Amino acid sequence: MPTEFAADKSHHGFRCEPSAHPETIRADALVVFVTEGTISGAAAGVDRATGGLLSRLATAGEITGKRYECVPILAPTGVAAGQIVVIGLGPEGTGPDGSTDLGTLYRAAATATRHLSTRPRETVVLVAEPSWSARQTEQAVAGGAMGMVGQDLRRSDKKRTRFGATILAGATPEALATGLLIADGVNLARRLVNSPPDDLYPETFAEAAAAIAGRTGMEIEIWDEHRLDRERCRAILAVGRGSSRAPRLVKLTYRGPGVPAGPPHVALVGKGVTFDSGGLSLKTPDGMLTMKCDMAGAAAMLAAAATIAALRLPVNLVAVCGLAENMTGPAAYKLGDVITARSGTTIEIHNTDAEGRVVLADVLDVVREMAPQRIVDAATLTGACMVALGHDVAGLFTNDQAWCDQIAAAARAVGEPVWQLPMYPEFDEQIRGDVADIKNVGDGRWGGAITAAKFLERFVGGIPWTHVDIAGPAFAEKPRPWIDGGGTGVLVRTLVELARDGFR
Ligand code: BES
Ligand code: MN
Ligand code: ZN
Repeated sequence: MPTEFAADKSHHGFRCEPSAHPETIRADALVVFVTEGTISGAAAGVDRATGGLLSRLATAGEITGKRYECVPILAPTGVAAGQIVVIGLGPEGTGPDGSTDLGTLYRAAATATRHLSTRPRETVVLVAEPSWSARQTEQAVAGGAMGMVGQDLRRSDKKRTRFGATILAGATPEALATGLLIADGVNLARRLVNSPPDDLYPETFAEAAAAIAGRTGMEIEIWDEHRLDRERCRAILAVGRGSSRAPRLVKLTYRGPGVPAGPPHVALVGKGVTFDSGGLSLKTPDGMLTMKCDMAGAAAMLAAAATIAALRLPVNLVAVCGLAENMTGPAAYKLGDVITARSGTTIEIHNTDAEGRVVLADVLDVVREMAPQRIVDAATLTGACMVALGHDVAGLFTNDQAWCDQIAAAARAVGEPVWQLPMYPEFDEQIRGDVADIKNVGDGRWGGAITAAKFLERFVGGIPWTHVDIAGPAFAEKPRPWIDGGGTGVLVRTLVELARDGFR
C-alpha cells in the first residue's frame, strides 16, 4: 500500500526535441499556445505550415486566445500531427517581464493535456515558445504532466489516460527535468488527498512518507502512539482517541548539498487529519463527505520537502506532519475536556471539530524545540477561511510580516492565490479559557479563521511563523478545464519556489 501512495509514473514518456519545425513531428496532437490578439511565435510557424488556417480561424472568431480557451482542429493539412490544439493564454504581458505569468502557463498546459487525456494517445507534442524562460517552460511542463492525471484512482473505466509519449518541442532537458519533478510533487500531494480515508490513515501516511524519504534521500523519524505519549503529545493523542487508527507524527529532515549543518532554514508543518468526522461535535453528512481532504496540509509539506530534496536545492529543512483521525469512538475526547499540550499550555475543548489547531499545538511545539529560522504551516483549518476568501484563495496569517511577504511573493510568482488576514491582539481575548489557559474556539463564528490562527500562534514561541489556511484551495469540488475535481496539490509549487530562493 505505501508503495502505491508513493508510486509515480508521470515521468514516463516525456522528452524534448528541437522546435524549429514542430509541424513535421508525427503525433496524435500538436499543442500550440496563443495570447489574445495576433497569432505569433510558434503558432505563427504552424499557421504558415497550414496555409494560414490559424489566422483564418482567428479572423472568424473561432480562436480568440482567451485564457484556457481550448480549440481542437481535427485533421488539418500541412502538419504531420492528426490534430492541432490551440490553447489561449489570455492577454499579453500578465507576467512581471511583459511575458505570460507562470500560473497561467501551468494551467494552460494542463488544460491541453487534460483535454487530450480523455482518450488514449500515442504521442502528443507541446510546443514551448522560443521566448519562454526556463521557469516558464518548467511550469508549462509541470502543468502538462499534472493535467493528464485524474482523481480516478480506483475507477476501472479510467477517465484519463497518460500519453504514450509527450514531446516538449523547444524545451531544454534541464527545464523538462525540473518541471517533471515539480509535477511529481503536485501529483503526489493530489494522490494522497484523493486516496480513500480507510486506506490512507496515520500509519499508512507515515509508511508512504518513509517510502518517499528513502527515495529522495531524506531522514525520517516516525513517532507512534507510545513515542507520542513519552513526548507528552497529549493534544495529538486526544484528537486521535476516538479512532481505532492511532495517530502518528512524521519528521523529515533534508540537508542540501554543501549546506553546513545548523538549525533548519525552515520548518514545514502540516495538518494531517486523515479523516475529520468532527468527532462528538459531529459534522453533517454534507460537511463530512470531502473530509478525507483534511490531511492536505501534511500532503503538501511532504510533497514539497520531497520535491526540494529531489531537486537537491541548497537548503536545510525539516517537515513535520501531525497525523490523526478525528472520530467518535468510545474513548473520543469530549467537550469540556482539558488537555495539557506538549508545551504545558492547557486547552479547554469547546468543540471537537476544531481539532486541527489541537493537533498542530503539539506539532508546532516539537518544531519550536528544533529552533528553525522560520516556520510555515499549511492546514485545512477553517470553513471560516472559505467564507472569507472563497474556494480558490488561501489565507495567510503571521507574526512576522517579512516572512509572510516572502511567501505571498512566491505564491504570486507561481500563480497560487493567497490573501493575508489580520492578527489584531483583540482576537486573543476570544480564545482565553475559563477552566484552562485557552479554549479551542473563539466566541461565536465571526472571524473564525483568525481565532484559529491566534490559537496556533500560542505555540510557535516567537519564531517567525506564517500559517496558511488552505481549506478552500486544497480540494476542488468541481473540475476545472485544467484539473479534475479532488486534491489540487496547492502550495507545493509555492514552497518549491520559496526554496529556490533559499527561503530568503
Ligand atoms: N477541517 C475542518 C475545516 C474545513 C472545512 C476544511 C471545510 C475544508 C473544508 C476543520 O477541522 C473544522 O471542522 N473547522 C471548524 C471549526 C469550528 C468548529 C470552530 C469549522 O470551520 O467549522
Ligand atoms: Mn474539524
Ligand atoms: Zn479538520
